[in-house]
Amino acid sequence: MLRKAIACIPASTTNLGPGFDVLGLALKLYSTVSLEEIDSDVIVDVHGVDRDKIPASVDNIAFESANYVFQKAGYQPKGIKLTISNGIPAVRGLGGSGTAILGGLLCANAICGNPFSSDQILDFAIEREGHPDNVTASLLGGLTVSVIDKENVKTIKLVPPENLRVVVAIPNYALSTKTARKVLPQNLDRQSTIYNIGRSSLLVAAIASGKLDLLNVAMQDLLHQPYRAKLVPGFEDVCNSAVQAGALSVALSGAGPSIAAYCTDMEDQVANAMVGSFAKNGLNAIAKVLEIDSAGATVSDSTGKTVS
Ligand code: HSE
Repeated sequence: MLRKAIACIPASTTNLGPGFDVLGLALKLYSTVSLEEIDSDVIVDVHGVDRDKIPASVDNIAFESANYVFQKAGYQPKGIKLTISNGIPAVRGLGGSGTAILGGLLCANAICGNPFSSDQILDFAIEREGHPDNVTASLLGGLTVSVIDKENVKTIKLVPPENLRVVVAIPNYALSTKTARKVLPQNLDRQSTIYNIGRSSLLVAAIASGKLDLLNVAMQDLLHQPYRAKLVPGFEDVCNSAVQAGALSVALSGAGPSIAAYCTDMEDQVANAMVGSFAKNGLNAIAKVLEIDSAGATVSDSTGKTVS
């Protein structure tokens, strides 16, 4: 019986403009969750980036997710040690909560002998997160399209062109998804709906066919960004500066406040321009130039051997 499992889960940027709650892209920036069955006691440790924003207690969502799997599997560990080594800035629109949920689910599933399939783990993750875009991308890697049909996810993963990079500019304040969803309207008119369906479809087709010059138009959005812009000081300036510095296109990352620029060239210039533009709007920000993760989450034992 496996006593310890370690999951390494990529961050995600989601929505990509028009694909609200549907599109996700996995990024080479990781959080690691390790779960060990111990003889007694419950220990939750958090290390790494933004550890002050992540509870080191039984309220931790990775811990809750692990318990969820143990209960579903009818397995009662004697004791549990859960450790998060976080590499993903928290509450900034980079899918950190999804990686924690997946980490707990995947590790607990491995310790129970993998009674649940990858599809079931994904359904559990979506149920806990409330929307499919970030957890699907983090689990599968690449660009994912996800819809929920009768409580189950239907998803397709595409691998974007290798030269695509994402420059994420990450301002130093947290914006919860809950807050960023509250500013959205309940309904969208027909013209705006057609606008978003068209662009979201074009975006997937552009990535699938490698026609990255279409990303600029394909990432336009009327569903959430116009409303969320007021929660991100300098949103328009940062987007404009990224494109002027050479980005192909730019969009809010997830629910924000981070902004993601898509590049095949000029990444460092784009990063500097975005950070400079945030600074002009009174915000400290850092930028990271990230490759696309096309492998998704991995789970290994304490010797490093893959276990699922
Ligand atoms: N799609 C969600 C939102 C973010 O924009 O509220 C999920 O990661």
